[in-house]
Amino acid sequence: AWGKFHSQGLKINTFFEPEPQDLTPGVCVQNLVKIFAGGPKPAVDGMNLTFYEGQITAFLGHNGAGKTTTMSILTGLFPPTSGTVLVGGKDIQTHMDSIRQSLGMCPQYNILFNHLTVAEHILFYAQLKGRSRKEAVLEMEMMLEDIGLSHKRNEEAQNLSGGMQRKLSVAIAFVGEAKVVVLDEPTSGVDPYSRRSIWDLLLKYRSGRTIILSTHHMDEADILGDRVAIISQGKLFCSGSPVFLKNCFGSGFYLTLVRKMKNTQGRGECDSGDEAILADKTLTHWLACIICI
Ligand SMILES: Nc1ncnc2c1ncn2[C@@H]1O[C@H](COP(=O)(O)OP(=O)(O)OP(=O)(O)O)[C@@H](O)[C@H]1O
Ligand SMILES: [Mg+2]
Repeated sequence: AWGKFHSQGLKINTFFEPEPQDLTPGVCVQNLVKIFAGGPKPAVDGMNLTFYEGQITAFLGHNGAGKTTTMSILTGLFPPTSGTVLVGGKDIQTHMDSIRQSLGMCPQYNILFNHLTVAEHILFYAQLKGRSRKEAVLEMEMMLEDIGLSHKRNEEAQNLSGGMQRKLSVAIAFVGEAKVVVLDEPTSGVDPYSRRSIWDLLLKYRSGRTIILSTHHMDEADILGDRVAIISQGKLFCSGSPVFLKNCFGSGFYLTLVRKMKNTQGRGECDSGDEAILADKTLTHWLACIICI
């Protein structure tokens, strides 16, 4: 659909909601370019994008669009080829050390210490960010509760399930009162119930923070994202609130179907008789009518 829009020559500007004037920019990506050695084309290709304080910005894009590369540059993992990023008004090219003190990151692939326990991880990172031992213990207790890992507090990271490791990685990104929190696909491989607890954690900690969340889940972007930024081939393709994007791209019908079941009088069986066949035929007829509209 994106290609279609481009080939029809529609104005790209219509895909960008005007920037909010009443919010404080937390992270400003400015003309960012990243060309990897030997890469056929730039991984990030002249990107301009602002993430605001007090908001969760969902960062969407196909595989290889450049999400992780952008996030890695803004967290100082490697330098840009050109352009820069301002984090809290400070330039990553010159002030990365002080930026790191208020930055939290959950990488796409977990980086945990196999033999440290869940509690030890949180304590370690909280103290690394400058908390006293006492403050770190308090933060650890609260965080364990928030992410639902209290029962695993003394378990070594290597013995956690994949989803639990993911939750621990998300928790680590928030410790030490990080002001800018970058989460690269935090809910990948996480079951629906745990995904919900990560969402609750993000919403609880959103205030006063700039949260950047990459995801492939549209429902997640819709529910959590105050703004959504979609990138394609290293370029910003569109950005705005979920409502704005729905107005831009939304079309078609939402159809809710409720099928009346035969009264089975508590037998716990589904109707598979004539009535069900009749219902299916009626349904098929209705769908055919709708599609022909
Ligand atoms: N270290 C690297 N060396 C060379 N090329 C790289 C490197 N890292 C990423 N790339 C390339 O840069 C492009 C963007 O990759 P990136 O990992 O940023 O995408 P992504 O949007 O995070 O994708 P995904 O959704 O799969 O995680 C891809 O074409 C990828 O092959
Ligand atoms: Mg990625």
